[in-house]
Amino acid sequence: MSHAEALIEIARDRLETGVAAEIGVWRGETSEKLLDDLPLSLLHCVDPYVADPEYDRYANDPRRLFRRTPTQEDWEGLYRATTKHLSRFGTRVRWHRARSRHASLTVPNGSLDFAFVDANHRYWWCKADIDAWTPKIRPGGRLLGHDWFTQKGLEVDGIRWPVQCAVIEAFGDAYELDESSGIWWMEIP
Ligand SMILES: C[S@@+](CC[C@H](N)C(=O)[O-])C[C@H]1O[C@@H](n2cnc3c(N)ncnc32)[C@H](O)[C@@H]1O
Repeated sequence: MSHAEALIEIARDRLETGVAAEIGVWRGETSEKLLDDLPLSLLHCVDPYVADPEYDRYANDPRRLFRRTPTQEDWEGLYRATTKHLSRFGTRVRWHRARSRHASLTVPNGSLDFAFVDANHRYWWCKADIDAWTPKIRPGGRLLGHDWFTQKGLEVDGIRWPVQCAVIEAFGDAYELDESSGIWWMEIP
């Protein structure tokens, strides 16, 4: 089961507003699946598509796709291709070409059934994502994230499991975890 399929199974029974967010869209594969498989009226798609040493140096995906550190031109191409690919969903997609925290300021508090955090997995960024997106979830909705078991390349600032540190710091042991997909989630009271 892919992480997108696992995400859908976890999120499916919590739909009420029909509005959700994906933080870190990349090629849009998960966004596409969410929109195809769930009756969402709106998916906020948040990604800056920017050459950023804070991200590029530690993330595997860009290096795998571009076979080098991506340039801004590479990111522009990826943004064009992804927006084109998701354009078939029309107004069900709202693009936020911005970093997570900045984009969150334009999303009303309590408006989301769920947000899926899958952006910069370094500790401080993950912590900032949790802080920014938790208030956006409606009571009973879920904040979810990927890469509980982060790649070795993300071991920076002396923190081996940055996502786990940020989640446990925010929620103690109240979070839930699907070990096979590496998806964690927290039900927001
Ligand atoms: C692992 S990929 C996302 C994969 C996608 N969620 C999926 O399941 O296919 C991470 C993405 O996060 C984006 N990103 C990096 N820093 C970010 C930030 N501060 N805010 C939002 N997105 C960010 C990158 O541009 C990249 O496209």
